[in-house]
Amino acid sequence: MTQPLRLGIAGLGTVGAGVVAIVQRHAGLIAARGGRPVEISAVSARSRGKDRGVALGDYDWEDDPVTLARRPDVDVFVELMGGSDDPARAATQAALASGKDVVTANKALLALHGHGLAQMAEEADRLIRFEAAVAGGIPVIKALTEGLAANEVTRVLGVMNGTCNYILTRMEDAGLTYDEAFAEADGLGYLEADPQLDVGGIDAGHKLALLAAIAFGTEVDFAGVELEGIGAITIEDIRQAADMGFRIKLLGVAQMTGRGLEQRMSPCLVPATSPLGQLQGGTNMVVLEGDQVGQIVLRGPGAGAGPTASAVMADVIDIARGIRVPTFGLPAARLRKVRAARAAVPAPYYLRMALLDKPGALAKVARVLGDNGISIDRMRQYGHEATTAPVLIVTHKTTRAALDDALAGFAETNVVAGPPVALRIESV
Ligand code: HSE
Repeated sequence: MTQPLRLGIAGLGTVGAGVVAIVQRHAGLIAARGGRPVEISAVSARSRGKDRGVALGDYDWEDDPVTLARRPDVDVFVELMGGSDDPARAATQAALASGKDVVTANKALLALHGHGLAQMAEEADRLIRFEAAVAGGIPVIKALTEGLAANEVTRVLGVMNGTCNYILTRMEDAGLTYDEAFAEADGLGYLEADPQLDVGGIDAGHKLALLAAIAFGTEVDFAGVELEGIGAITIEDIRQAADMGFRIKLLGVAQMTGRGLEQRMSPCLVPATSPLGQLQGGTNMVVLEGDQVGQIVLRGPGAGAGPTASAVMADVIDIARGIRVPTFGLPAARLRKVRAARAAVPAPYYLRMALLDKPGALAKVARVLGDNGISIDRMRQYGHEATTAPVLIVTHKTTRAALDDALAGFAETNVVAGPPVALRIESV
């Protein structure tokens, strides 16, 4: 009889319980596809007594995930606790040091410590698999490491935080303010325990850093991701963007430039008719571009018990099958350490500002743009208020550095009331 592959599962939240449910429900299917049965030896979580909607009585219980990771009857340590530091980090290290493969959904751990853990895994001749860490149920890690292995990847982009997409979609569709849409997402249980992880772009930034490492063969560099959240987006910007045929998305973009690796996670305008512009609600979309394949669009659920556990178990089944791919698709020693480039690729920008309603104000703004080599594509003044007039400007392509100089220049004109909104228009 073929030896079963034995799991130790640390973390029994939504995803952990979902993994237990799949192992129980699909035992036959998993054994057939993996070539050997998959069993759970032991589990671990913070509170033992809680009802998680799955039967745990057949499994040993460990209070300490590190002890679980070292158990001799565990072949694969499944880390579903989350958090970039201990106990997730210590337990992952303990598992590798004890000769176990690791399957994790922990994007923060890998975004911050992924290179060191990948080195450790290789030294121990073990695997770290993390399909569930990026875009939930979408098999994007497999698509990049295996499906597109023959391509030079040119760009990776996408909407990788469902909560932010839900909030932005509700603002547009229901005319809710940011605060109202945020409260609605909170009521539905969409927000992370620390909501800043979602709305600050951090969670999505972790995911982008992991994809960029695989796509460009580089050491994972979360510190190199330029992060900007959605907290400053107003209904006004959503309406104005829609009026011009765009939608605002929290968009991640990674590409290699002559100046280094550019990784951005920020609110951007995308054409409303594009696949990314059409993405509604809490769904994720990842767009992969390769020199041979062209463009691939992957769309699906980015969170939730079933989708995330589906991705975890896909990794477990690959291990059962004997498929062994290095953590970031290349041996750790071959991953390049590259410089982070800040918005090196030029793009058009959307600017919205309140101008003092007096002679020559618009001319001063236009002069600042011209002085910084920025050409205006479209401009509109609308809806006068008591002393100011809102002005919308869409620029031709420019660099972020030139734009930042222009924004600083606006402040010196004494005709711009408050900081202007500046959003990149991404070609997708
Ligand atoms: N909070 C994330 C989201 C899911 O809203 O997409 C976990 O990364």
